[in-house]
Amino acid sequence: MSAKQNEFVLVMDFGGQYNQLIARRVRECNVYCEVFPYTMSIEEIKKMQPKGIIFTGGPNSVYEKDSAVCSAELLKLGIPVLGICYGSQLMAHLLGGKVATAPVSEYGKTEVSIKGESSKIFAGVSKETICWMSHTDYIAEAPASFKVTASTPVCPVAAMENETEKLYAVQFHPEVMHTVEGMKMLHNFIFNVCECNGDWKMDSFVEATIQNLRQKIGGGKVLCALSGGVDSSVAAVLLSKAVGKQLTCVFVDHGLLRKNEGDEVEAIFGPDGHYDLNFIRVNVKERFYAKLKGVTDPETKRKIIGEEFIRVFEDEAKKIGKVDFLVQGTIYPDVIESGLGKSAVIKSHHNVGGLPDYVDFKEIVEPLRLLFKDEVRKAGRELQIPEYLVSRQPFPGPGLGIRIIGEVTEEKVQIVQDADAIYREEVAKAGVAKDLGQYFAALTNMRSVGVMGDGRTYDYAIALRAVMTSDFMTAESAQLPWEVLAIVTSRIVNEVKGVNRVLYDCTGKPPATIEFE
Ligand code: XMP
Repeated sequence: MSAKQNEFVLVMDFGGQYNQLIARRVRECNVYCEVFPYTMSIEEIKKMQPKGIIFTGGPNSVYEKDSAVCSAELLKLGIPVLGICYGSQLMAHLLGGKVATAPVSEYGKTEVSIKGESSKIFAGVSKETICWMSHTDYIAEAPASFKVTASTPVCPVAAMENETEKLYAVQFHPEVMHTVEGMKMLHNFIFNVCECNGDWKMDSFVEATIQNLRQKIGGGKVLCALSGGVDSSVAAVLLSKAVGKQLTCVFVDHGLLRKNEGDEVEAIFGPDGHYDLNFIRVNVKERFYAKLKGVTDPETKRKIIGEEFIRVFEDEAKKIGKVDFLVQGTIYPDVIESGLGKSAVIKSHHNVGGLPDYVDFKEIVEPLRLLFKDEVRKAGRELQIPEYLVSRQPFPGPGLGIRIIGEVTEEKVQIVQDADAIYREEVAKAGVAKDLGQYFAALTNMRSVGVMGDGRTYDYAIALRAVMTSDFMTAESAQLPWEVLAIVTSRIVNEVKGVNRVLYDCTGKPPATIEFE
């Protein structure tokens, strides 16, 4: 897939946490979109011929010494630009407006009054509309050539525009679900202002990717890191379609998988399974447990598991003979969350941040690197991968290693596997799984006093998590029926040795993340 093949909107990343959401929303309009750092040169941008540019939010103030700033030239190319939050302030700053610390910060759902009835981006938007605000600075004065098109009681310039120059700015975040008519505004920018056609489709991605892979790989041997999750499964099937038996899939059973998962993966991809590929299962749980012994820091655990993965592949590659390419199922949110541009690194994702500098292969191939999760599923359906596999809930690369808070031991893995299996079984049985983005059990490292029979216990607490999310960037804790939680709790404390307490995680993302580490 390349930007040049399709009409293309460029998201310029100034370091905000919602940046990939913007790209996702644009792609939902069937327009191809990619995120690039704000340091990209004007020349490079011109070469890509974007139909529009979106400036993201960011953590800085425009008047700080080291703030993220692009050249004002970018606003003079005749390419439509939409500035969001920090991006809107930057636009004002670069064009002679005034940005200042707001007397009152706005955070959360805010009623915004739309003044620009004829504004192209507010076409069809209600006069009073709820938008998501998150700022301490604001545009105190719009640049002279701009018209103010929206405001709130404390934010005089909630939106502004210069229609002739095709420059638009909004202080709020249209990409976030809480901005009720945000999608309409983005749609308006993409189609009314940038004049896109919306012709980017998944079948073209699948076809183009298979072609590109064939070209790139030629007669080379390919090794695929298959976990049995949606991402690596789609990547493996794409590759097997592209190069057939040149592909060997190695499935590392690192002992941090869900209960029985290893056998399930083997049943699907192994010699008796659905696909025509070389499949090797490597059972290396002792090796991983040994490396993780005594380690409690989440980032260190992630790095160790990621690195050990690569080492296992190297060992397998040596056994297979010369291997040219290593495939990984990295997807776009992993890439962005691992620290594109100036965003703070929240977690170094497995397959990206966990990759050591030295890798003993010619090249790494990541065919899904630019896709969001729902797009990976769409690609999977396009490839006719069975639905139960395509719609499977995500499971992180470091597996149960990051669902066990603190040190990982074989005993703890068993506890969390058993508790999680009960939880999944009961949720499925109750028929409440379909609205959940992800649900799982985690093992806290909290032990507490309980009573069982007539005896005192001092055992672990299991935390149950269930979230609703459309994009895994933000999530709400799901309100599971109490009856279901009661059954799960009773079964866990009765059936899982070492657990005497079950807790339910009511936190959303933000401020928590979906996984515990
Ligand atoms: P967080 O915990 O960051 O998780 O809210 C967001 C989504 O990403 C998954 N996740 C990972 N996936 N490698 C992956 O492939 C990783 O290292 C990783 N860490 C978290 C998580 O399960 C959730 O779906």
